[in-house]
Amino acid sequence: MSTVTNSSPWQRLVAEAEAARAVPIAELLARDEQRVERLTGSVGGITVDASKTRLTPAAETALHDLAVEADVAGWRERMFAGEAVNTSEGRAALHAALRTPEIATARVAGEAVGSRVRATYDAVIGLAEAVRTGELRGATGAAFTDVVNIGIGGSDLGPRLACEALAGDAPLRMHFIANIDPHARQAVLADLDPTRTLVIVASKTFTTLETLANARALRQWLAAALPANGVGRHLVAVTGAGERAAAFGVASERILDLPDWVGGRYSVWSAVGLPVAMAGGGAVFDELLAGAAEMDRHFRQADPAVSLPLRLALVGIWHGNFLGARSHVVVPYSERLARLPEYLQQLELESNGKSVDRDGEPLDYATAPALWGTVGTTAQHAFFQWLHQGTEAATCDLIAVLGGGEPDADVLAANCLAQAAALMAGVSERELEQAGVPPAERAFRRLPGDRPSTVILLDRLDARTLGALVALYEHKVFCQAVIWRINPFDQWGVERGKALARVLVPALSTGEADGDVDPSTVALLRRYRAAGRET
Ligand code: F6P
Repeated sequence: MSTVTNSSPWQRLVAEAEAARAVPIAELLARDEQRVERLTGSVGGITVDASKTRLTPAAETALHDLAVEADVAGWRERMFAGEAVNTSEGRAALHAALRTPEIATARVAGEAVGSRVRATYDAVIGLAEAVRTGELRGATGAAFTDVVNIGIGGSDLGPRLACEALAGDAPLRMHFIANIDPHARQAVLADLDPTRTLVIVASKTFTTLETLANARALRQWLAAALPANGVGRHLVAVTGAGERAAAFGVASERILDLPDWVGGRYSVWSAVGLPVAMAGGGAVFDELLAGAAEMDRHFRQADPAVSLPLRLALVGIWHGNFLGARSHVVVPYSERLARLPEYLQQLELESNGKSVDRDGEPLDYATAPALWGTVGTTAQHAFFQWLHQGTEAATCDLIAVLGGGEPDADVLAANCLAQAAALMAGVSERELEQAGVPPAERAFRRLPGDRPSTVILLDRLDARTLGALVALYEHKVFCQAVIWRINPFDQWGVERGKALARVLVPALSTGEADGDVDPSTVALLRRYRAAGRET
């Protein structure tokens, strides 16, 4: 056993799990009139209600002891101070400095990050406003009407989520190309005018295969329509590799800086968020940052017992590590938040999909569960059967936006609350009998219930609440990583697949691969090549 699983809090939780399984969630509510109030908290327009989870008083105490034993507070302050909390790469993780100016005084490797943060922020706002007002124009003198962001992973998902969630009647239409599939490009370019299109190439490394392929295709698309040497007027780069962007043809004043202490999946607050400022203006980008900053303050100042990020983290660990829930389902009951599950997949799974601790030692406990989901109410016609009557334990975050009385918003919120209630209540044999359901049908129509959910309510969906929501999840992920003793800020796991893809691309045309490629893959290569010859 490791020091984690051998610790007193962990052992108490193992024992408590056995006891907790025998107490229905509804019983926990009945026993404690204060439960709802105690397990519900609000910050920055976000309310988190964990009262319909399987948290028991003894579990809560032991979970908080687990957090203390892991020194969550100490690691939090090290992160905010700019220390190298990205332990395997020896880097800071100071995304909070991008939205919380007072901590931008932190020094990273001796460099005062404040001036660097400010300079990039000013460049983002300045460029966005110049394009929005028409001060900055294309090579033919036409004002820009469309902006295409080329990027993938953290260089796509954050700005795409924010632009879709905050879409208004912006003067600029925002488009996103991430996948290397030409259909992704063609779908975007179909109705764009190159003379009125600005292209942002967002890539921290400026080496990502998909992004460079798309960037070269868009550069060619622009060159075919613009006056000689006009392409540069239509290019912007967001990168930590300025020299590579310059070599690609981006003018130095159009290259926006991305520091190495901002991880891709934590970067929407940086120049990666340029599309947000382009779409909504500097004020919207400021509100996004302000919402996150409010959640930062809460995370640093709140008593652990009422810390919303820590509460989400502990609910996940309690159900995931002790009650067998190996799926975490996210269902936003808002079409504007349809991208949130995909965003959280990268944030949570690329951060905490790890199996060794900070010292490289294998773990003897689970870390991040599978995270998936889709927008509600659509999800209710896709996988809620599994949630209600499946054999697998799962946790879920059901998210709704208070509608201010708009009929459709009320229906969405009603479905969100109803599903959370139904997951807990189920349908009993007695209810079916009272409803006159024939005995032969009851076994199929019984719902076991007693299934946990966390309800998250947004007072409204705007830049500030979106910023607070994303920061809430960032800090939840961080708390879980600290308790699991893992590094949430590296992603070595993605490298092997990328390297093999570079080997297999040429092999597809020859049908042959070098000796390192396994026989199954070689056979598939040959089958692919043969099919290509037949068509
Ligand atoms: O998925 C791996 C990854 O490195 C992510 O962490 C990152 O957000 C994405 O690829 C894109 O990387 P880059 O911004 O360097 O193009």
